[in-house]
Formats: sequence, structure tokens, C-alpha cells
Amino acid sequence: MGETVSLGDVQETLMIPLYGRALDARKSRSILGDERAAELVDAIDYDFEKFRGPSLGGSVLRASIFDEYVREFLGKHPDGTVADLGCGLSTRFDRLDNGRVRWFDLDVEDTMSLRRKFFTDRDRYTMIPGSIFDTDWYQQICERSGPMFLLSEAVLLYFPAEQVHAVLRRFAETLPGAGLALDTGGPAMMNTQDRNPVFKALPTRMQWTCKDPATLEQFGLRLRESRTFAHPQPSVARTWPWRYRCLLRAFEWAPPITTYKLNLFESESG
Ligand SMILES: C[S@@+](CC[C@H](N)C(=O)[O-])C[C@H]1O[C@@H](n2cnc3c(N)ncnc32)[C@H](O)[C@@H]1O
Repeated sequence: MGETVSLGDVQETLMIPLYGRALDARKSRSILGDERAAELVDAIDYDFEKFRGPSLGGSVLRASIFDEYVREFLGKHPDGTVADLGCGLSTRFDRLDNGRVRWFDLDVEDTMSLRRKFFTDRDRYTMIPGSIFDTDWYQQICERSGPMFLLSEAVLLYFPAEQVHAVLRRFAETLPGAGLALDTGGPAMMNTQDRNPVFKALPTRMQWTCKDPATLEQFGLRLRESRTFAHPQPSVARTWPWRYRCLLRAFEWAPPITTYKLNLFESESG
């Protein structure tokens, strides 16, 4: 009998990328090679097979683009601090640990208590139970002075625009000069959720529509890069199967591709 789960509606969405990474790990040519995700899927008593469709593979592509944003940061700042806000059951620290980074994973209480069944705090790695909308974790992640990188992958999309805008303003004010990676979805993505097979299996829906990530600069952020799945970083593209790359490039103009963006910001420095 596996580990049983009791999660809130938004929290349960963590099972989608977890299963996506597990399926990827079982392929002969895996993109992320996340064997731990496959072990977690085997260890958790949950109907993962209810999830179907391209969003499973999409969550792997997304994770690989976010990984590269963090790798680039650590390439420049090997002793920097990284905070993954709404980490779910991500294994990103294990994938990217350079032996020097100070890493924090934050997620809400119920997700964190599930996470703690499989992961433990270690030297340079700390899990924080809390909400991205709380304020007390900012001080904790500033334990080491120096460069800071925040990422929030497939989290803010689930919240109303006013709440997201307020938290972006707070990031910029509290952490000047920090990097921030986050994903945005335009109307073509938000208005078709009911047709997306993964969402047919879940009660929750995404709420925050953002057609143009450059509009977020009004909150004190500078947009450094904005990518779609048709234009990953070249080093990431090389890890994706050739047929994915060809298909995504062939349909780079199509709304399912253009509507979803993986963005890299920097908060204005002081
Ligand atoms: C789709 S999952 C993404 C998980 C992870 N980022 C990944 O890509 O594997 C959404 C995550 O948001 C988390 N979440 C929900 N509400 C949150 C909040 N207020 N603050 C931080 N995380 C939250 C959930 O617990 C869940 O882990």
C-alpha cells in the first residue's frame, strides 16, 4: 500500500508534473532523467493514470527550461541563493545542486507534509511550509547575503490577477536585483482549460490570464527573456527529441504554443 494523499484542490495539481516527469524517466531517451519522480509515483497511492494528454510532456519541457534559467544563474553565482516557490514534489535541487548553492523549497502546509515524507532538510537545503503570499519567508531566504534567484513554476497561474500582481510588487520591493522565473498563460490557454484532458481529471482551474509578460514590468520587474516551447534555450533544445523540436517549430505561430510563456525577470535594483 502506497502513501495516501490528502491535498487541497490547487495542491493536487502537483501530481501532473510529477507524473509527467515519471513518464519521461521511464523513456529510453529521457529529457530530465528524473528517476526519483518515477520512484515517488510508485510510492504514492494515487490514480495517476487519470492524467492524459500533452500537458504531461509539456510539464517536462517546462521544467527543463526553468532548470536552464537556474543553471545560468548558478553559472554566474555559484554561491547564490535559490528559492523554488510552490515546489510541489520537484526534485530540482537534486538535479542542479552544484555543492555550493543555498536552496529553499517553499510550499503550503499540506503539500509540505507530503513532501517531508520523501525529502529531508540537508546542508544548504531547507524546506519551508508557507504560502507564496505570506511575507515571513523573505527574511528566512535572505540568510546568505548575495545574489538571489526565485522561481515559481505553474503556481501563480492558479490565483486571481490582483493577488498575483500584489505578490510581484512585493518581490520587486523586497528583493531588489533578484532573478525571477515564472510562467504566464494568455487567453488561448486560459479559455480552453475545460478541453485540456489533465484538467478534466481535476476540480481546479487556472485563473490568472497574462497575454503579454512585458506588462508585468509595471510592478518593478525587468523582462530579460520570454520563451515559448518553440524557442527553448539552445542547450535545452538539444536534450529534447528531434521530432518534438520539429513539431514545435512547425507550429510556433499556433495559439497553443504562443499563449504559454516561460519568462525570466529581474527585479529593479533599489
Ligand atoms: C502545478 S503544481 C506545480 C508544482 C511544482 N512547481 C512543479 O512544477 O512540479 C502547483 C503547486 O503550487 C502549490 N501551491 C498552491 N498554493 C500555493 C501557495 N499559496 N503558495 C505556494 N505554493 C502553492 C501547490 O501545493 C503545488 O505544489
